[in-house]
Amino acid sequence: MLIKVAPSILSADFIRLGEQVREAEAAGVDRVQIDVMDGRFVPNITFGTPAVEALRPLTRLALEVHLMVEPPEDFIEPFARAGADTLIVHQEATPHLHRVIQQIHALGKKAGVALNPATPAATLSEILGQLELVLVMTVNPGFGGQDFIPESLGKIRWLRQEIERRGLDCELEVDGGIHQETARLVVDAGANVLVAGSAVFGAAEGVRAAVERLRRSAGPA
Ligand code: DX5
Repeated sequence: MLIKVAPSILSADFIRLGEQVREAEAAGVDRVQIDVMDGRFVPNITFGTPAVEALRPLTRLALEVHLMVEPPEDFIEPFARAGADTLIVHQEATPHLHRVIQQIHALGKKAGVALNPATPAATLSEILGQLELVLVMTVNPGFGGQDFIPESLGKIRWLRQEIERRGLDCELEVDGGIHQETARLVVDAGANVLVAGSAVFGAAEGVRAAVERLRRSAGPA
């Protein structure tokens, strides 16, 4: 199973966001994650559609927009129009998750669902078959640079087993505190997409070396 790297621009240098995305692309990452936060679903405010519109022409990489907002249904179309390729919504942010996934697919975009640390993976059992991606939050969402929550490993294992048992073509992505010490743990548990912010953009050795180190530490799946 190929391990993919998705740098989160939340930890990038905002003064030169475009350059950092280009550095990540040159470093061979597989896509870019844009963390959208509304100050209500999570205690922080980050980017809106203008950031996606600005980044869209700068890279050929897929842009996955992690919507830490409520209600997500209000933001699907604006971010799809702004250039998002994948829209990730939180299971906890809407009572109408099935309808939101339909809305994303109707716009021709890939759909992902993110789970906060206290949310059981089994809450996705009815919708898992319709998802291109599940995102297991391995920190409480809102900030970069937090410590990895080790209890997440059981959730990752459960989801990997469920995806394999049902023969689903669904990526299993993890996000939060992913770096050289934790990458191997989450890959061994079954993750195949690693979101990393501070480990990539906060690394003293630069983006390219950081991405290479993350891939090496993740090892073969
Ligand atoms: C947290 C964000 C994460 C965060 C990851 O709410 O969704 O993507 O940027 O940052 P690190 O990799 O530094 O934990």
